[in-house]
Amino acid sequence: MEVIIQKDTQAAARLVALMIEKQVRFNPYSILGLATGRTMEIVYAMLADGHKAKGTDFSLVRTFNLDEYVGLPAENENSYRSYMNRRLFGKINIDIRNTFIPNGMAEDLHEECSRYERQIKHVGGIDMQLLGIGQDGHIGFNEPLSALRSITRVKALTPETIQQNGPLFGGFDLVPRRAITMGVGTILETTRCLMLVTGGSKANILRKAIEGPISSMVTASALQLHPHCTVICDEAAAADLEGGDYYRWIFMNEPEWEDYRNLC
Ligand code: F6R
Repeated sequence: MEVIIQKDTQAAARLVALMIEKQVRFNPYSILGLATGRTMEIVYAMLADGHKAKGTDFSLVRTFNLDEYVGLPAENENSYRSYMNRRLFGKINIDIRNTFIPNGMAEDLHEECSRYERQIKHVGGIDMQLLGIGQDGHIGFNEPLSALRSITRVKALTPETIQQNGPLFGGFDLVPRRAITMGVGTILETTRCLMLVTGGSKANILRKAIEGPISSMVTASALQLHPHCTVICDEAAAADLEGGDYYRWIFMNEPEWEDYRNLC
């Protein structure tokens, strides 16, 4: 795992957007894994701007989202389908038929989860997976105690997650109680992972996830097992990290990051 610390949210999101653009330029047929949530809003705005200003071409890209609420129709403004269409897909030249999100309205949810997992395998797996982290350490909706080898399935949300997402729904009572999510195992199968973490409220959980023990109580800690995971965070989220100086040194000195140093 590598950890890249940027001075603020803007710079951290910029780095993530640049890495996604580079991936899409390198392989126009890229399979991207996408996340939703507040952290990603700025990344998608930057990708949309990049498409407009630099002509980043998404026409051949396919995307798989991490998760979707159970029981929310796609048209509901709080569904992740609606979020993605509004914030990204409607603003770039992606073919909407190449954007995949679990169907939280499926009659047979179990079959929907298996189908989603098969679809990911069918396209040859995810090249680059974008992730955020929840206050309880979840990635996707893999809440505490999710098996570290779990695959796509229905998960009950924790009270903490319901609390975290309550304001978006206009009240905690309105937040769905379950979601379909890619499993931790599904995420570990991706070729490359980028986890973006911003803001002081994530400092404690970020430390647990990357410097603490691997535990199903903090599912993001499973990323320590991923062969190529990069965590990009801002100084506020990095506040509790013990290895901060070393991580900063990596970004400033390792050749891999040279192209990005002056751009962020
Ligand atoms: C949603 C997802 C979640 C969020 C996490 C952080 O698709 O994958 O794991 O990334 O809940 O959400 P925010 O960014 O709103 O703090």
